[in-house]
Amino acid sequence: MQALPGFRDFLPDDCARRNCVFAQWREVARRYGFVEWEGPPLEATELYKKKSGAEIVEQLFNFTDKGEREVALRPELTPTLARVVAAHEREFKKPLKWFSIGQFFRYEKQQRGRLREHFQLNCDIIGERDLAADIELVALCIDFLRAFGFTEKDFVVRISDREFWIDFFRDKNVPVERWDDLLQAIDKSAREPREKTAEKLGELADSVFAAIESGGKSAKLEQLVDGLRARGLADFVAIDVGIVRGLAYYTGIVFEVFDRAGKFRAIAGGGRYDNLIAQLSDGTVSMPALGFAMGDVVLGELINEIPRAREAMQKSIANASKIDIYVVVAKEQRRADALAQVQQLRDRGFRVDYPLTPTKVARQFQTAEDLGARLALLYGDEWPQVKVKTMTTGAQELVSHDHLLAHLQAQSSLSS
Ligand code: HAM
Repeated sequence: MQALPGFRDFLPDDCARRNCVFAQWREVARRYGFVEWEGPPLEATELYKKKSGAEIVEQLFNFTDKGEREVALRPELTPTLARVVAAHEREFKKPLKWFSIGQFFRYEKQQRGRLREHFQLNCDIIGERDLAADIELVALCIDFLRAFGFTEKDFVVRISDREFWIDFFRDKNVPVERWDDLLQAIDKSAREPREKTAEKLGELADSVFAAIESGGKSAKLEQLVDGLRARGLADFVAIDVGIVRGLAYYTGIVFEVFDRAGKFRAIAGGGRYDNLIAQLSDGTVSMPALGFAMGDVVLGELINEIPRAREAMQKSIANASKIDIYVVVAKEQRRADALAQVQQLRDRGFRVDYPLTPTKVARQFQTAEDLGARLALLYGDEWPQVKVKTMTTGAQELVSHDHLLAHLQAQSSLSS
């Protein structure tokens, strides 16, 4: 039996890696004053049918539950967020700055960078219409990636504005009913043959291609770049009106993050969705909103690709999995004393391991090394003294068993 296509098993190394990614996400989100929240993994299918857009509805993992409800594993978080915010709107001061880390499910064709489950970091700001919030959000997205060791040479945030296209359609008297299909065609244009996009765009093809190729002009986008320039982050962004995003609910500024080499799928994407909360609450609550999500799959591929990021990740994985102390039981008569010490050390927060069954001393030291232990404590002939060995230098000292705990605590407070 194997995992289903597009689903991953996380062995300890994979979990260690994933935990480092999550820890970094949490750390940077907190630097920006975002607070963590979580929604349910299963929702009414209707929630996605209402506003996510045709593409994501086709990719739903959905079924009828035992209570005859139509339900779906969440493919994204934004509709849940809009539902939750509409229900609890009065309980919080605006703007809300919320982040969440969770697993999402899309029945996609499995390919490089796209699986049927993935983890996402979502960051959203609710209740702020000013462009200052868009600038803050893009800066946050950039800082997540900088924290992994990436520079402006490694990735770029392509920013765009759906209003640019709405103005464009209005200018060309395109009926509103066609707008969604046209936006979908523009969204896919970078990934599809030009002729296929041209067919979908019809008589607008030439002017749409011309707008994309010229980069598009928008005072709002210039202002956004200026805001990032003031923070020293302008080199991380590029205006590109070819980005419109596949999800249907976006209303204004949108952006997607790609590796500079153009090797991978999008690392992150998001934008403004000022009408979604009103639409999902039948107009009872109306609040501007914006956010983005970053997935773990492409991020992991890019970390492997860029040596600086790969080394930083290896270092943090090694640090996270290290133990402090390995207790070597050199004489089985001392096992009970050694275990009493193990318990006391663990109670005080040290990471401690020892051999569960009688084991050759040389093998125990090898295990201590493999586990990255800073110290080894040897329980043997020296009793009631214990030999304390510093693993990196090989230096040894004898410490009386009665003083050992105080000695180790003093040592660890000096080294931290
Ligand atoms: P999205 O662009 O659909 O946006 O997904 C965000 C990121 O999740 C993508 O850039 C990609 O890294 C990752 N991702 C998506 N699908 C897959 C997949 N099948 N396999 C691996 N990774 C994947 C949203 O989901 C929006 N709800 C983001 C948002 C939050 N907008 C506002 N707030």
